[in-house]
Amino acid sequence: MRMVQSFNQDWLFAPERLAHDAPDQRFKVVSLPHTNRLFTHHSVDNTAYQFASTYRKLFVLGAGMLDGRRAFIDFDGAMLVTTVWLNGQYIGTHRGGFTPFSFELTGYLTPGENVLTVYVDATESPNVPPYGGLVDYLTFGGLYRDVHLRLVEPCHIVDVFPKPVDVLTAPGLDCQIKLSQPPTDAHLTLTLTDAGGVVVARHQHAVSDEQADLSLRGLGDITLWSLDNPALYRLSVELLQGGVVSDFMEVRFGFRHAEFCPDGNFYLNGQPLNLFGLNRHQTYPFIGAAAPKHLQQLDADILKHELGCNIVRTSHYAQSTYFLDRCDEIGLLVFEELAGWQHIGDESWQKLVMDDLRAMIERDRHRPSVILWGVRVNESPDDEGFYGETNQLARTLDPTRQTGGVRNFIQSQFLEDVFTLNDFPEGIQQPLVRPHLITEFGGHLFPTKTWDHEERRVEHALHHARKHSLQRAHPDVAGAIGWCAFDYHTHKEFGSGDRICYHGVMDIYRLPKMAAYFYRSQKPPTEEVVLHAATNWTMGDRSGGGNNPLTIFSNCEAVEVFIGDEFQGRFLPDAEQYPALAHPPFTVRWPEPYNPWGTPFRDLTVRGYIGGSVAAEQRIDASHTPDRLRVSLSTDRLKPDGADLARLAVAVVDCYGNVLPYHMHPVRFSLEGDGCLVGANPLVLLGGQGACYVKSGRRAGVITVRAEVDGLASVLVRLTVGG
Ligand code: GAL
Repeated sequence: MRMVQSFNQDWLFAPERLAHDAPDQRFKVVSLPHTNRLFTHHSVDNTAYQFASTYRKLFVLGAGMLDGRRAFIDFDGAMLVTTVWLNGQYIGTHRGGFTPFSFELTGYLTPGENVLTVYVDATESPNVPPYGGLVDYLTFGGLYRDVHLRLVEPCHIVDVFPKPVDVLTAPGLDCQIKLSQPPTDAHLTLTLTDAGGVVVARHQHAVSDEQADLSLRGLGDITLWSLDNPALYRLSVELLQGGVVSDFMEVRFGFRHAEFCPDGNFYLNGQPLNLFGLNRHQTYPFIGAAAPKHLQQLDADILKHELGCNIVRTSHYAQSTYFLDRCDEIGLLVFEELAGWQHIGDESWQKLVMDDLRAMIERDRHRPSVILWGVRVNESPDDEGFYGETNQLARTLDPTRQTGGVRNFIQSQFLEDVFTLNDFPEGIQQPLVRPHLITEFGGHLFPTKTWDHEERRVEHALHHARKHSLQRAHPDVAGAIGWCAFDYHTHKEFGSGDRICYHGVMDIYRLPKMAAYFYRSQKPPTEEVVLHAATNWTMGDRSGGGNNPLTIFSNCEAVEVFIGDEFQGRFLPDAEQYPALAHPPFTVRWPEPYNPWGTPFRDLTVRGYIGGSVAAEQRIDASHTPDRLRVSLSTDRLKPDGADLARLAVAVVDCYGNVLPYHMHPVRFSLEGDGCLVGANPLVLLGGQGACYVKSGRRAGVITVRAEVDGLASVLVRLTVGG
């Protein structure tokens, strides 16, 4: 039988290339995911992660563990070129940082102790995608995803690809199953279970070839996977040889029909769905790309639940399976794209792109959330030969999904199924072909920091509002995916001088800018009533003073505005400026001449109404007095694996809970328990907010963290590790 063992713990790590027999003392013990280096928030120098590291793992193969089986080491991803040695013998090299790869260890293993040595070279090699040209993101380095040891019988299951068919009429399932070799005297048992574990169908088939194409029909009532009810099914496959179960694999998938149609719309399960989303980079402050499961899941939750997106683009590479698992679970659509950025390299470089594309599709083609494969290097020139091949490969590996390929010029040759365009100019470029999807806008046209002047932060949000409104009014365009969800680290040729692109609607810690409230306000009020006045409510922050006009992001039907006790008026959504949005922002204008300078200044109160009743209220304190330090944990439970991380977010707020954006004071943290802080300590708040990460040790127990800022009461939070 298959045996899979996590290889995430007890690695020895050295930030240099050491010989196989270098003494253990030259290493330190680490757990995965691991970054080859920790960084500061700002001014990350990409040359500082460009070196080869040595990871060593000692492991014992118990007597009989191999017993005629084959052994593989599986890497979910390592950055950027990985060379594997076992017991002093060279095993192989993998080039590329975003997709999984495996090496066979059988024949090199010895009974008893084995020494696995992995060199991970994070040098930005021009021969390996995404490099070769300039790249507007950093890749960082290290064994930044999970590693497993896998023992299997010589004849084992290599891949299971469930392909739902006739989903809207008489749901059935085609199953493509690949074995490592032609089996003898073998059967495959397929069991389909629903989310509640109820068996929907079970079939057994005799097999004699390496690939089996089997079908399950007459499945009866199937719950479709949708955004509101992301129903997941499991397909379990058992391989029996001589009547004995010799291998097992299980894949989670969903029954849904997803199609971009020639009328320009995207349809999910036969219903048109306007695609509303953001791009995501997989990098974080301090830890580079080495984010564990919890942080990956958190990003998906933020995109769906906090920002109200229905789609994310994994710009510009295949992202963590933990992130994608969560997209499957919560109903967040994904446009997944191959690795690269503007540059196309030579033949061997292109071969790596093909390998990356194959690995990405084979890894993720069972996922109901993934609706489109990005088969071009983002914003690269047309190349009929190369992109003819990428399209063909995608269609062969996965006939169930359409292809897109992101370009930045409208005359680009249309080789894909969906014309996916980065549409940066004001307005919408008229589709020349259909279906047409906007895959980026905003970004470098309006970089915005959490501590920028209020007018800029509001305009940043309105830029996103305008583009989404324009897109929704355009019947030929299936949707728009803004650039981007979160601020990200970049090379010196891009960004604001501190090597950060402040293009996110959230900051690099995933904390909101004003633009985040625009996104959130597009949620249906049945999910969450949103009311956010886009202002610090000051007399003197804006040019000329005052707050005219005042923008309010809300999904309420009407708002009432008060200054102190004085009623200012009742306002309706600004459908004139944002006609096509589900919930246009409110524009509150005071009559001209407007000169509040030097007049008494009082609190702002905004009330939101739905169905004639007050559904939400926001107050902003006119004195801007810091009231308290708000501390929130993304989770209070960690795994005792030496690598789990919780985000600990802090903000200085007024007495009504509004963040005070210019309160940029240092916050000091102190931690007790088996764990550590990852981040800056003290942490200087930016835009009144910031975060660090709490990392677990290897022992179960309790970690407490105290956060303090001058002049306010300190706050203590508690995390449970294990248990
Ligand atoms: C696009 C590119 C993105 C990002 C963005 C910034 O051209 O595809 O990766 O660089 O610009 O606005």
